[in-house]
Amino acid sequence: MTTRTQILGTGFVTGEKLVKNADLAKLMDTSDEWIRERSGIEQRYYVKAGTGTTDLALQAAEKAIADAKIDKHEIDYIVFATMTPDHYFPGCGGILQSRLGLGNVPALDIRQQCTGFIYGLQVSDALLRSGGAKTILLIGAEVHTGFMPWTQWDHLFGEGGEAPSDAERAWNSKFRDRTVLFGDAAGAAILRAHDGERGLLGFELHSDGSTFKDLYVPAVGFAQRPYVTPKDYAEGRHIPEMNGRSVFKQAVTRMPEVVKSLTARLGHKIEDLDLLIAHQANLRINEAVQKHLGLPDTKVFNNIQRYGNTTAATIPIALDECRKSGRVKEGDLVCFVGLGAGFHWGAALLRA
Ligand code: ACO
Repeated sequence: MTTRTQILGTGFVTGEKLVKNADLAKLMDTSDEWIRERSGIEQRYYVKAGTGTTDLALQAAEKAIADAKIDKHEIDYIVFATMTPDHYFPGCGGILQSRLGLGNVPALDIRQQCTGFIYGLQVSDALLRSGGAKTILLIGAEVHTGFMPWTQWDHLFGEGGEAPSDAERAWNSKFRDRTVLFGDAAGAAILRAHDGERGLLGFELHSDGSTFKDLYVPAVGFAQRPYVTPKDYAEGRHIPEMNGRSVFKQAVTRMPEVVKSLTARLGHKIEDLDLLIAHQANLRINEAVQKHLGLPDTKVFNNIQRYGNTTAATIPIALDECRKSGRVKEGDLVCFVGLGAGFHWGAALLRA
């Protein structure tokens, strides 16, 4: 008898504030045209001040629990993927456990950035199939707005407030290659093992730390003393640094490579795939991956246009939209693939 992990329910939420590309041009030298052309992004959602990653995760978890039609007390393990936790420590997993009222169930925090949800699926699958847990709540959630360099939030949201001065606009523009890409959101899934052929079929995961400086936060870390300084803040070293071209190149080579390798290892051809759900970092990356794999538009799902890059949340959000719109049907062969800071990348195959 085969034991496989099934996805019983999914749910997601975004930040409360819709921000269109043209809104960002109020703060920095950018344009709707540039952002759309280079990334495919049209809009994203930001949280209002005071909303953290665990707040979004809680709402997404409640939706996934309702969708799975389980009692929340059936959850006996939480796996939480984020690169933007509420606090430096502890991670969000335990805070979410307490806010959900789940007693003392274990809560594991993982930090594989954009590949966090796929790593989380593998860890959850291993726990479920080895008897370490019966029902897992897996979360991918991010509030990226804490990284943003500007202070003119009211002006951005059209709620009054001063426009940036020329100096502030120049400062905001310094980070424009990164800031325009990200949005705030959370996605959740409820996972459980069963005896049968449907469910997660396998994984292939990789890491390469040698290029970590192509996307990282230079300050706010214990390689320096103290771990954050006023100078770091003044210089913007608490904001991610990114070599966009290098990230792009890694993504368009490693994502198709790992999809090909995993499907072949599990005895499938690329043509057997019914749907590819890739991490949503840039629509141009996903178009290149699709072309490389030779998949038609009907077999690839993208929603970055509406949400931007929500890091660990992109895959569960896309999965939820596909499940609820009928884009994923029972028996479909679905491949998840992602690459992100670290660098970490990988794929998972699901018989839905
Ligand atoms: N608006 C207007 N102009 C801009 C902006 C902006 N937001 N950002 C950069 N530019 C300008 C640059 O200053 C540059 O101007 P110049 O030619 O006068 O010097 C020009 O546009 C081209 O800049 P490039 O950085 O060369 O643009 P590129 O075509 O490489 O696109 C981008 C940049 C969109 C960031 C792309 O490289 C990319 O998407 N890379 C992948 C990034 C990514 O996926 N990151 C997330 C990874 S996931 C994770 O783990 C969090």
